[in-house]
Amino acid sequence: MTTSDTTTPTHDTDDVTALCERMIDRLWAINALRSEQVAAAVRAVPRHRFAPERSSQEAYDANTALRTRWDADGHATSSVSAPWVQTLMLERADIRPGMRVLEIGSGGYNAALIAELVGEGGQVTSIDIDPEVVDRARTHLAKTGYDDRVKTVVGDAEHGHPDGAPYDRIIVTVAATDLPEAWTEQLVDGGRLVLPLGVRGFQRVYAFTHQSGNLLVGETGDHAGFVKMQGLGAPAPTIVPVTDAVALTTDADPVPAPDRLPDVFAAPAHEQYTGVRMGRNEYFGGLQMWLATTLVDFATLSGDAEALGHNTMGRHQTPATWDGTSLAYLLLPKASTDPAEWEFLARGHGPDAAELAAILVDHVQRWDRDHRSGPGPRFLAHPDIPAVHGVIRTRHTRLLALWDQHDTPQMDWQADPGA
Ligand SMILES: C[S@@+](CC[C@H](N)C(=O)[O-])C[C@H]1O[C@@H](n2cnc3c(N)ncnc32)[C@H](O)[C@@H]1O
Repeated sequence: MTTSDTTTPTHDTDDVTALCERMIDRLWAINALRSEQVAAAVRAVPRHRFAPERSSQEAYDANTALRTRWDADGHATSSVSAPWVQTLMLERADIRPGMRVLEIGSGGYNAALIAELVGEGGQVTSIDIDPEVVDRARTHLAKTGYDDRVKTVVGDAEHGHPDGAPYDRIIVTVAATDLPEAWTEQLVDGGRLVLPLGVRGFQRVYAFTHQSGNLLVGETGDHAGFVKMQGLGAPAPTIVPVTDAVALTTDADPVPAPDRLPDVFAAPAHEQYTGVRMGRNEYFGGLQMWLATTLVDFATLSGDAEALGHNTMGRHQTPATWDGTSLAYLLLPKASTDPAEWEFLARGHGPDAAELAAILVDHVQRWDRDHRSGPGPRFLAHPDIPAVHGVIRTRHTRLLALWDQHDTPQMDWQADPGA
């Protein structure tokens, strides 16, 4: 791993104060700040001193993550996260004076914000798997006077930090693809777990509340990107090659296993348009999440427009489903001569191509009718949720998406967890 260079720009105090106020205005404007408490914390903690190698303009840009560590391939492994996502998560965590908070993934700055929110009577522990990140956070916390208010620890998030438990809040600031038991067990009843969670490859920031019996109930998520989890919780997706240029990927059960996939893919395609159109800059992350949580056999198919014949829904990847003999996926070709209009198209290969394509078309049409303008799903998470339709199995837990806002999280299995 490498660290950023340490050339230190100078920071003018008046300049820094003005930049901080401008950033706060911006955070209010984009709804990433929602309370005076979090605004006061942002005002109190000198963000530029947690990334002294960067200019004050960069340090106080609401959208900029200050990357500090990279792996051998040049991918960032650590940063002081962008202000908008930090304040959004702090708002969703609803941290109050006197609380005990565990931050997973350190940088120093966010832990100092949390220290401001919990006050003298609270307790903040920040844990990171990378000893250099912890050293760096410790140094900057000491220089800014927060070292006696934040405990910094080297460790793997997978285990939480039992020594400081129970916590009123756990804030995970690195991309998780699962919910290890330790996080729920170390959270008080009624406590909150705020984290970027990838569900079948689609990451959102959720705020889960710990209800009795280790049940987590998550509110609708916000779109945000984070560096990958390392250690025991590192993502381990299953990749099933289809051709040299196309593959199916999933990080949750079931794993795609149609017979003779390359032959299936080479067979003539059955195509069915959905009648559902998209404008140029329209967001369709909600559709991806809908498909990921309502199709039992779901994976993403990767390949570019050349390999797949039309545009995909994401950057070279698109939702797919399969059965024992066949495969189908969604594409997004131009709908008309209007350059700003696209229409979802389902394409299938294999003996069940038409049936699978029709399933995708039906899902897209239901999303369009019932959820296109909605907030997206809430989630229930518990290891004992029975494996009924729509339940997503991960290594540690089971997740159930609730798309109808009136769906009640009170589930029958709570009365009889062995069912
Ligand atoms: C985005 S940075 C944290 C930013 C920090 N919260 C802030 O804004 O002040 C994510 C951190 O997670 C750490 N990390 C990755 N995998 C981890 C794991 N399994 N356990 C603990 N920390 C981990 C990385 O080393 C990295 O420093």
